[in-house]
This record gives sequence, C-alpha cells and structure tokens, in this order.
Amino acid sequence: MAKKIVLLAHTGQVGFELHRQLQSLGSIITVSRGDVDFLDSDAVYKHIDELAPDIIVNAAAYTAVDKAETDENNAFALNRDLPEVLAKLSVTHDALLAHYSSDYVYPGDGEKPWSEDDLTGPQNLYGRSKLEGDLAVESIASKFLIFRTSWVYAARGNNFLLSMLRLGQEREALNIVSDQIGAPTPARLIATVTSLCIQKFMASNNANKLSGVYHLAPRGFTSWHGFAQMIFERARAEGVTLALKEDGLGQIESTEYPTPAARPLNSRLSLDKIESAFGLAMPTWQSQLCLTFDEWLEMNKS
Ligand SMILES: NC(=O)c1ccc[n+]([C@@H]2O[C@H](COP(=O)([O-])OP(=O)(O)OC[C@H]3O[C@@H](n4cnc5c(N)ncnc54)[C@H](OP(=O)(O)O)[C@@H]3O)[C@@H](O)[C@H]2O)c1
Repeated sequence: MAKKIVLLAHTGQVGFELHRQLQSLGSIITVSRGDVDFLDSDAVYKHIDELAPDIIVNAAAYTAVDKAETDENNAFALNRDLPEVLAKLSVTHDALLAHYSSDYVYPGDGEKPWSEDDLTGPQNLYGRSKLEGDLAVESIASKFLIFRTSWVYAARGNNFLLSMLRLGQEREALNIVSDQIGAPTPARLIATVTSLCIQKFMASNNANKLSGVYHLAPRGFTSWHGFAQMIFERARAEGVTLALKEDGLGQIESTEYPTPAARPLNSRLSLDKIESAFGLAMPTWQSQLCLTFDEWLEMNKS
C-alpha cells in the first residue's frame, strides 16, 4: 500500500520543493495554517493523529531570524513545540519524522567545518529555538531524520538570491558581508536529498540505526559576498539588465552591518556523515546555483 506522507508547510521554500519531490514516495497530505493552528499543540496532535501518517515531513518553521529576537513565544512555539508534538505523533504511529534544523545551532567560531556531534552554542534566539526543537525530537522520536542546513534559497520565496537580483537591478553599488562563511543551499537540493534519505531509511533492515542528525548542504564554502559575486556573474552572462556597475560590488565585515540577531561567522558544515550513511556525493554550491539561476530565468522569461 502507498505510504501516507503528511507534509507540513508546503508553502515555504523547502516545503514547496518537497511537495514536488516526494510524490513518488507515496500519497501526500499537506497540512498548513489553513488546516490547523500550528501554535496550538493539542490541535496539531489531534489533526495529524486522525491522518495516521507513515511519514511526517516538517518544513514549517519560524525563519525570521531578526524578528525572532523580539517574538520569543512564537519562535519557540514553531521551532520547539511543533517538532516536539510531531515527535510524539511519530511514536504513536511508528512513523518516520523528517525535520529541518540550522547551522545557527553552532557557536560559529573557528574555521573548521562543524560535525553533527560538536558542542552546540547558538548565538541568537532563532538558533536556540531550533536547537531545542532538535533536542525534543532526539529525546522523543525513535525514527527520525534531522537535517541541519544553511543559507537556504530558491527560485521563489524570500531569500538572498532574489534579494540580490532585485537590488542589482535597482542600485549601482552594493556592499555585502564577506566574513561569514558557509554553503548556500537550494531548497530543491534539500528536497532531493530528503527524498533519497527517506527511501533508504524505509528500505533499510536496520532503519532505526539511521535515525539521527545530518548536515545537508552542497560541497564547498563561500561568503555572502562570494555568493553575490557568482549571482551577478551568472546574471551578466545571461544578459540580465543590471543597474549594478561592474566594480559596484563591495565587501564589508559583519560589524559594519549590524542586525538585531548576531550571525555566526563560521557556518561550515561537514558532510561526511550524510555522505557515508546514505551513500551520497553532494554537488558543489556553484553547480547548484547555476541550476537554481536557470530555473529563475525560465520563470522570469518575458
Ligand atoms: N531559510 C534559511 O536560510 C534556513 C537556513 C537554515 C535552516 N533552515 C530551516 O529549513 C527549514 C525550511 O525553511 P524555509 O527556508 O523553507 O522556510 P520558509 O520559506 O520561511 O517557510 C516557512 C514555512 O513555515 C510556515 N509557517 C511559519 N509560521 C507558521 C504558522 N504560524 N502557522 C503555520 N505555518 C507557518 C510558512 O507558512 P506560510 O507560507 O503560510 O507563512 C512556510 O510554509 C526550516 O526548518 C528552517 O529553520 C532555513
């Protein structure tokens, strides 16, 4: 019988791609804010309990990193309490729970890529709320995959790629932070890898041993400035009209661009665990940017 997949938040960047990618794994039932109040744990439990899922995929999150600093209750409700309820549901239904977390759970010092078992130490409220969600899932669920990812973008949604393309068409000069280092991760890659990992998990004779936290990002690292540089290179190569001058992209340090929430300087994530556990070879961030850029071009053809 086809597996019943409950997908929370198919309207987000990652949720949208999951909705497309998971079709081949079973029948998808979407759950979004129109169906149930995600801030009401009892209501969420009741709603999803009745759906009797085989697989729960949670793409819902409070992702407004700066706003979270002054909106603690909602950030923790979405990022900690919701995954906690989903973990309980996964136990009740012996279902696999796939959930997403963030590079922001790590302290962000040094230059070494973080391993999944490194000590955490979030620098902002969003990171703390995501970490507490991870801990809740780990302590309650027995069949779970937590994917910690970084710098998520897509051809749609609110993200750095689209902000750069908009700003590059409006301004002759831009200064972009160059001392935060990580890997820009397309939502589509997250969905593809999630699908592969779920398939492997469901087919494994020893699936529970695969339960755990995994980093999910493309190979290689860059800064926000390096990411912007390649976006504008692609834009120029494809004939996108820019107001930005050839020498208009400047570099600044994080201290020159203060934000309500502190950002980690080192967001490098080691991919060794996911590659060896699931037999994967992650593509480079540059190849992934080319794919996502082409999708954006296709969508914006006039
Ligand atoms: N974005 C990043 O740079 C980044 C980096 C690292 C990790 N992550 C993690 O990756 C995962 C996916 O992130 P994303 O970039 O896809 O996020 P996103 O585009 O901001 O989408 C968030 C989703 O959560 C839903 N949601 C938020 N508040 C809700 C509420 N009160 N009730 C119901 N639904 C609500 C939104 O629904 P509506 O559309 O109805 O608002 C949307 O579907 C998250 O776990 C996030 O923490 C993201």
